Amino acid sequence: MKNVLFITSEAVPFIKTGGLADVAGSLPKYFDKEKYDVRVILPKYMCMKQEYKDMLRYRTHFYLDIAWKTQYVGVLETEYEGVKFYFIDNEYYFSGQAPYGDTKWDIEKFAFFSKAALSAMPLLDFRPDIVHCHDWQTGLVPVYLKERFHEGEFFRDIKSIMTIHNLKFQGVWDIDTVKNISGLSEYFFTPDKLESYKDGNLLKGGLVYADKITTVSETYAQEIKTDFYGEGLNGLMCARSNDLWGIVNGIDYNVYNPATDRYIVKNYNQITFRKEKIKNKRALQAELGLEQNDKVFMIGIVSRLTDQKGFDLIQCVMDELCNDAVQIVVLGTGEARYENMFRHFAWKYGNKVSANIYYSEEMSHKIYSSCDAFLMPSLFEPCGLSQLMSLRYGTVPIVRETGGLKDTVEPYNEYESKGTGFSFANYNAHEMLSTIRYAERIYYDRKREWNKIVDRAMKADFSWKTSAKKYEELYDTL
Ligand code: ADP
Ligand code: GLC
Repeated sequence: MKNVLFITSEAVPFIKTGGLADVAGSLPKYFDKEKYDVRVILPKYMCMKQEYKDMLRYRTHFYLDIAWKTQYVGVLETEYEGVKFYFIDNEYYFSGQAPYGDTKWDIEKFAFFSKAALSAMPLLDFRPDIVHCHDWQTGLVPVYLKERFHEGEFFRDIKSIMTIHNLKFQGVWDIDTVKNISGLSEYFFTPDKLESYKDGNLLKGGLVYADKITTVSETYAQEIKTDFYGEGLNGLMCARSNDLWGIVNGIDYNVYNPATDRYIVKNYNQITFRKEKIKNKRALQAELGLEQNDKVFMIGIVSRLTDQKGFDLIQCVMDELCNDAVQIVVLGTGEARYENMFRHFAWKYGNKVSANIYYSEEMSHKIYSSCDAFLMPSLFEPCGLSQLMSLRYGTVPIVRETGGLKDTVEPYNEYESKGTGFSFANYNAHEMLSTIRYAERIYYDRKREWNKIVDRAMKADFSWKTSAKKYEELYDTL
């Protein structure tokens, strides 16, 4: 039996700001339970829904020194769908309205979390063989493991894995501050360790000290070795390329299932979608005040509204696109400039464009099930889960060929009758527009072909089955 502890800043169903939560909360369910005991530890945020806070049981508590202060560390636990979750409780750090906010404060918050998670382990009756860390928030874990925890018998042989969900966020501040917060000595702040362009960098620490590194698609694993995608760490990614694995994400096929989904108006499957999917579209048009029209090509977007996701391309050609026979439904929150851009287009194009600037699981499922196509023209995309959800619901993805989008959406080939979506290569607004228009033509003029694309999309298998096996293989190398 191998014991693995996921250390993460978010996990469904407890707390979610993006795809990291989907992965950290659902992947642990899909390991071979006979061979791998995979558990998860995360902060107990005050902003978690009450129903989840009510599930937690007190386990123990202790005190910890961090950033020249002594802090309370509560440990709580619960089991959810067969997986054990531990929570670190501390109201000084985790009482914000959202998990993340001010960068400097977040660095201290997650330095505390990383140290607390390690310190809690000997009190859990669960000794991990591997700690599996996710993103910059847990970058100090592999460092601490090598630095201060390796002396005790308990920690000596524990291996660490660092998974990159997004290389853009690294947890960077000036060296003095990071030194003070982390308690790490001068020794660690050189360019071969935590120093990065004269600053202290938490993710870099994790990437230097982890035994293995993974990221969430094969293409992104290649891309991050280049200048453009490497976010300043491409040299390090090249240097560690022997230990770098690209393992594509899956999604939870029980949660995202058009045949059983309770958020959607009409359930359907691979056989019934031709007749039933349209009922979701009708209901969504009514709910959002769009023109009631079965035939019109409806494009969905569900996303954090940041420049990563390619909204600059959309802004550039939105007027042209809205001259076509299309409807556009957006659900997202994020940067004010994109929120306002979509509000503006919703105002300008009335019943053709619906801008829903909020966060809602329920509405996201309605969009995945109702639209004909799903647009995701990302500038970069480590994996992307939204396109996988769209495929699962027979909503044809239109994507840029980068990262996980390239690895999961097979472009339509009309000559061979292949493909599950549409894609374009360059970060160019008119290349995107002509790809959308190509999709429109197939949708309007060759409906049988379109339905075959939907059929293939729904057949594509991005459940966790295959990827969980790859993680098992990785665990076995350690
Ligand atoms: P990222 O992690 O970069 O945000 P992913 O595609 O990997 O992108 O994951 C995004 C996840 O967040 C998906 O589950 C998507 O449905 C969800 N999501 C994003 N924005 C919203 C929103 N406004 N309301 C509901 N769910 C959202
Ligand atoms: C990040 C990436 C996204 C990925 C998700 C889960 O948020 O932006 O592409 O799917 O993590 O790994």
